[in-house]
Amino acid sequence: MKISIKLGMWFFFCILVIEIFSMFFLHNNLVHSQVHQELGSLQARGNSHRSVLEINSDSATLHHIGLMESHTDTEVVITNTTGDVLLSSSKLNQSMRTILNKPIDNLPRNGRVLQSDWQKEQYIATVTAFNKGGEKAGYVYMFKNTDEVQKLISQLNKHFLLASVLILLFMIITIFFLSKALTKPLISMKEATKKLSKGDFSVTLPPPSRDELGELAQSIQTLANDLNYLKQERNEFLASISHELRTPLTYIKGYADIAKRKELAESDRDKYLDIIQEEADHVSRLLKELFDLAKLDQNTFSISKQKVNLSDFLQSILEKVLPAFNEKKILFKLECSRNLTFDLDPIRFEQVLLNLLDNNLKYSKENTCVHIKVFEGNEAIHMVITDQGIGIPEKDLPHIFDRLYRVDKSRSRATGGFGLGLAIVKELVEAHGGEISAESEAGKGTCFKIFLNK
Ligand SMILES: Nc1ncnc2c1ncn2[C@@H]1O[C@H](COP(=O)(O)OP(=O)(O)OP(=O)(O)O)[C@@H](O)[C@H]1O
Ligand SMILES: [Mg+2]
Repeated sequence: MKISIKLGMWFFFCILVIEIFSMFFLHNNLVHSQVHQELGSLQARGNSHRSVLEINSDSATLHHIGLMESHTDTEVVITNTTGDVLLSSSKLNQSMRTILNKPIDNLPRNGRVLQSDWQKEQYIATVTAFNKGGEKAGYVYMFKNTDEVQKLISQLNKHFLLASVLILLFMIITIFFLSKALTKPLISMKEATKKLSKGDFSVTLPPPSRDELGELAQSIQTLANDLNYLKQERNEFLASISHELRTPLTYIKGYADIAKRKELAESDRDKYLDIIQEEADHVSRLLKELFDLAKLDQNTFSISKQKVNLSDFLQSILEKVLPAFNEKKILFKLECSRNLTFDLDPIRFEQVLLNLLDNNLKYSKENTCVHIKVFEGNEAIHMVITDQGIGIPEKDLPHIFDRLYRVDKSRSRATGGFGLGLAIVKELVEAHGGEISAESEAGKGTCFKIFLNK
């Protein structure tokens, strides 16, 4: 069943129950107070007759009272204490007699209601006693035909029915629009996720509202954008890989063809076979590094952190690379306070620094300097590695952390990297909960900044 219908029905039944209860309550109260009022005024009328009778109860007064009541919708019957009728404003009928025969005891001064059932009986009635010379002399019975009350109440019922129907109608219309408005974003999100699951990531949801549904829409939009980006990246990545593999394979095939020639001198053949071996090594190294990166990407590798003294740690790494830097006459400057410690995975982090230093070495000219500065900020440890190398052009800077991205696209023998070093560095730094960024100026040098959150 559609969610809008489900929601609408829930609303409808809940409000219907509330409406029925409140209408019932209101109706009951109104009817009750109406009947109460009728009985009150009937009793008051009886009491005023009593007051007159207590002043004077001769036949002229009785006649006068009878005359007064004959022009109203109420009736009066006056009896003496033994039950003989002294006056009746109309002819007594059976239901009046039944009421007159009811026993009366402990009657309060202001009388009492004798018959209040307006639904079943023909009359509602009250009784009041009147005295003469301090002695009880008789009773004043007041009657009112219930037809009047019933007519009044049926009028009231009609009003109630009309109001109920109107409210119901209004409710249905409101619920219809409300449930549509509530479920519209849900439905568009459902459509969007359906599209996503079919592999179509070009999803655009209407601008999100500032509530939970809006947040959900926002998340779906972000997911769609991310998937779209990943899809593009994967395509580009596959294109770069096939490009990367094509070059060495072309070499291998070409040199293999030449090496097969019978008339070739043995020394030339060896030279070609060496090239083939070199290229094959290159391919297998590339595949190994890609595989390592794929493992990093799946987050299946674990980082085992331990407290490391950064100064000692950096020193030990520098010692490993120093010979290569010395050979190229590149100077090192390390700035790190002696007692700075941090929790990191020494093996993984050594890989980070070796990759960065490898770049420094590869992309710097002779007689330059590489400066490593480590210091403690308020929230993070900062590592800044600056070189005076060839720098990175501005347009390439945003891409250098992408896989297989190299500024110099030709795979020169001198620097022949894969363009994977920085991608691995980024994965590892992020696995440590840190961030890495680069600044550079072509021809002047490059600066890599690592933030490791404490
Ligand atoms: N310190 C640097 N100075 C100048 N250019 C740099 C520097 N570091 C990186 N680059 C540029 O960024 C590119 C990407 O670097 P990355 O380390 O990912 O790949 P690579 O060094 O070419 O190959 P690999 O590290 O996989 O052997 C490099 O090809 C280079 O053009
Ligand atoms: Mg590199």
